[in-house]
Amino acid sequence: MINKYVYGNPIPTNAVESLIEPSSEGMQYLTEIGHEDKIIFNYVMDDDDIVYGLGEANRGLNKRGGLYRSFCSDEPNQTEEKISLYGAHNFIVISGMINFGVFVDCASEVTFDIGYTASNILNIKPGCPDFDIYIIDGKTAYDIIKQFREMIGRSYIAPRWAFGYQQSRWSYMNADEVREVVKKHRDAGVGLDAVYLDIDYMDGYKDFTVSEERFPDFPGFVKEMRDQGIRLVPIIDAGVKIEEGYDIYEEGRQYQFFCKRADGTDFVAGVWPGRTHFPDFMNSNVRMWFGSKYKALTDCGIEGFWNDMNEPAMFYTEEGISEAKQYLESFDFNTNDPGKFFELNDKLTHLSNRMKDYESFFHNMDGRIVRHDQVHNLYGANMTRAAGEAFLKLSPDKRMLLFSRSSYIGSHRYGGIWTGDNQSWWSHLLLNIKMMPSLNMCGYIYSGADLGGFGCNTTRDLMLRWLAFGIFTPLMRNHSALGTRRQEAYSLGDSEDFKNLISIRYSLIPYLYSEYMKACLNNDMLFKPLSFEYSADTFARNVEDQLLVGESIMIAPVYEQNAQGRYVYLPEDMLLVVFKSSALRRYQVLRKGLHFIPVAVNEVPLFVRKDRILPLCRTCQCTDEMDTSMFEMIAYADTSVEYRMYSDDGVSKNYNRPNSYVSFAIRENNGVLGAVADKTIVKLSLF
Ligand code: GLC
Repeated sequence: MINKYVYGNPIPTNAVESLIEPSSEGMQYLTEIGHEDKIIFNYVMDDDDIVYGLGEANRGLNKRGGLYRSFCSDEPNQTEEKISLYGAHNFIVISGMINFGVFVDCASEVTFDIGYTASNILNIKPGCPDFDIYIIDGKTAYDIIKQFREMIGRSYIAPRWAFGYQQSRWSYMNADEVREVVKKHRDAGVGLDAVYLDIDYMDGYKDFTVSEERFPDFPGFVKEMRDQGIRLVPIIDAGVKIEEGYDIYEEGRQYQFFCKRADGTDFVAGVWPGRTHFPDFMNSNVRMWFGSKYKALTDCGIEGFWNDMNEPAMFYTEEGISEAKQYLESFDFNTNDPGKFFELNDKLTHLSNRMKDYESFFHNMDGRIVRHDQVHNLYGANMTRAAGEAFLKLSPDKRMLLFSRSSYIGSHRYGGIWTGDNQSWWSHLLLNIKMMPSLNMCGYIYSGADLGGFGCNTTRDLMLRWLAFGIFTPLMRNHSALGTRRQEAYSLGDSEDFKNLISIRYSLIPYLYSEYMKACLNNDMLFKPLSFEYSADTFARNVEDQLLVGESIMIAPVYEQNAQGRYVYLPEDMLLVVFKSSALRRYQVLRKGLHFIPVAVNEVPLFVRKDRILPLCRTCQCTDEMDTSMFEMIAYADTSVEYRMYSDDGVSKNYNRPNSYVSFAIRENNGVLGAVADKTIVKLSLF
């Protein structure tokens, strides 16, 4: 049951797909408090209430105790006190004696104070008086999330090859370097499906161009890679370089397609190419125009993209620089006031992403002129929309890979997201683990983090432990920043351990892809907190570092340096499978309760749930070579059970046909349990 309440004159966000009429009833659960010209919604939480949601946000799965500001931010330093990250996902669920969900559909910022100011008080402050608020009633948090997901529409569906292992780096500078990356993976026997092209593939960081010098005969190169089972995935940035004669710049100027200052001139911000203009993605003609430009690369054989810098990130503006200059000129360097030097420091180090700059340019939303800060959170989402809608035309029958850095709910229908610039910190591995279910709650199923960490130098053990978790995330991409230690599978000493870890991913792809597809098609989650399945178990309610992945397995990643294993809570009897490689495993049936599980740095543990089946295929070097005719079944059952696996060609778009499912079953025959399946079963490991 969903009730919608409309405040003021909301700017359409494209978040909600279902048609829901505004409710005539009073609002349940939340109390409205007037506060100057702003409204605050207030709720008194029970001590035992858990608050889920907020998608890409800092802190735990349970959001209590934190302050969160939904304001898409270029924030690579995700330390504990940070309140805004790259996405804005204004959906929460309060789960306790009373359960309800709240979605604040608001184009400007929204603040959630979830027991931060006062431990039992939830306060929600929309940043403007114009928004819709939805209250969702349901028996459980899980049920509320499913209703919400249905309301916001089906999540984007990625091609199956995007479940292969992917290697990225800012930047592989030329075709030869990319060739070398691929060769080194292949020589070391490490599976690989994609290599990313960061900004240096372009000519002068100009979108939709390819440097002739560094990537001569680009279509030929794309094909050469494709013949080796590798897709190249180029980056597209939001800012368009200001350069006479550059067609995108010239057209954008001619058609008035860039964001404007108050005086009607095109707004200028400094990003990777230097001075750029921002395409006005809030305008449908601009989306159509910008989207059509992807053709330059799809015509070369490109099948996937990542959209970046679309918060939009600004390194500086000319206005900001001239203010800093003026400040410097009038600064009294003889002052004896240390406070003045802190101020000076601040003025010169806060030139990026200034609120003042976000308040200084305008969009033309199909006739309605809106100042940027009022629709800030929609900008990146509309860049994703531009690409997603273009692909419907450019590639009507074949799925494209697309994911973005910035996002707002609604963009989950057009593409996935990655979680932006993290760091090679153990705490960011844990953040990644805790964030995955929250992202799923908000519709982002094809998602993942920069494995190994983007900034800072990774270590061999962190990389291995992060990959051991990344094996389960749909986007499994190793990405790192310019100037950091190399972290490819062959760059951190003996590659054997990396090869083995990645081999496990390839064996799991049919299961992961199946569970991913079901999550998308049924508005469900791939990653679930334990509490969603074991709701009566108070212990399970408190577990944040173990997750259910699909219907058959639970995972408990190791995320601490030098840990030789970890404690794992089992809400029921389960089968522990510790993988050393796809083929080398050890098994142990464990009883419900707390266990210490030794896990070496080159191992991956998972837990098969009681009366569930995990199908595994033989490992391979890339998804093109994946053999889905033969399977091994791992099951922990003493009765007849069945697993329905979603299985299609992985690229076409006619989903959910009757023949999209194959069945794996354990059946009793003359008192003996045996495997019965639509596929060849090479081995049954039944416990
Ligand atoms: C941004 C992106 C990062 C990319 C870099 C250079 O920081 O988040 O992934 O490598 O820009 O393009």
